[in-house]
Amino acid sequence: MIYGRLHDPSAYGRPQPGRQVRALLAVHSAVAGLLTPLPTAEADGERLFRQRCASCHAVEPGRNKAGPHLAGIVGRPAASVDGARYSKAMQSAAITWDWQLLDTFLAAPSRMVPGTRMTVRVPDSAHRTAIIG
Ligand code: HEC
Repeated sequence: MIYGRLHDPSAYGRPQPGRQVRALLAVHSAVAGLLTPLPTAEADGERLFRQRCASCHAVEPGRNKAGPHLAGIVGRPAASVDGARYSKAMQSAAITWDWQLLDTFLAAPSRMVPGTRMTVRVPDSAHRTAIIG
């Protein structure tokens, strides 16, 4: 959902993922496509996002709630949304979000970024795949 719908680095002038990352993502989509019929995964991703994320995250740029908007999150450096309130932990994370990092973060945010203010975990990997997908 995040990758399919919100991945628009051109809107932010962010660099596109490198060739290797794109290849990995293609492999991932192929595998995910075999395991889950895409329309279902996408529908589930939308529903899960609404249930688990939308109270704090908008998907439109420029609209921050308790958390920063997530438009263009794939390829975006952590803690880079103007006007969003970030923890010191996130500000010093020094990462650029890609599929794998989002998956790791959502599984256990404070394990990956100790001190983060985002406390919502998505322990089910199929749910993470649908949300990020
Ligand atoms: C209760 C509010 C809340 C919910 C619900 C929530 N988040 Fe967050 N999220 C935050 C806050 C606050 C931050 C900023 C964290 C920090 O600065 O440490 C954040 C940060 C993030 C970031 C890093 C953004 C950046 O600009 O670096 C991502 C990615 C993210 N959240 C994804 C999600 C997803 C996906 C969900 C649903 C599974 C979700 N969040 C649910 C509050 C929330």
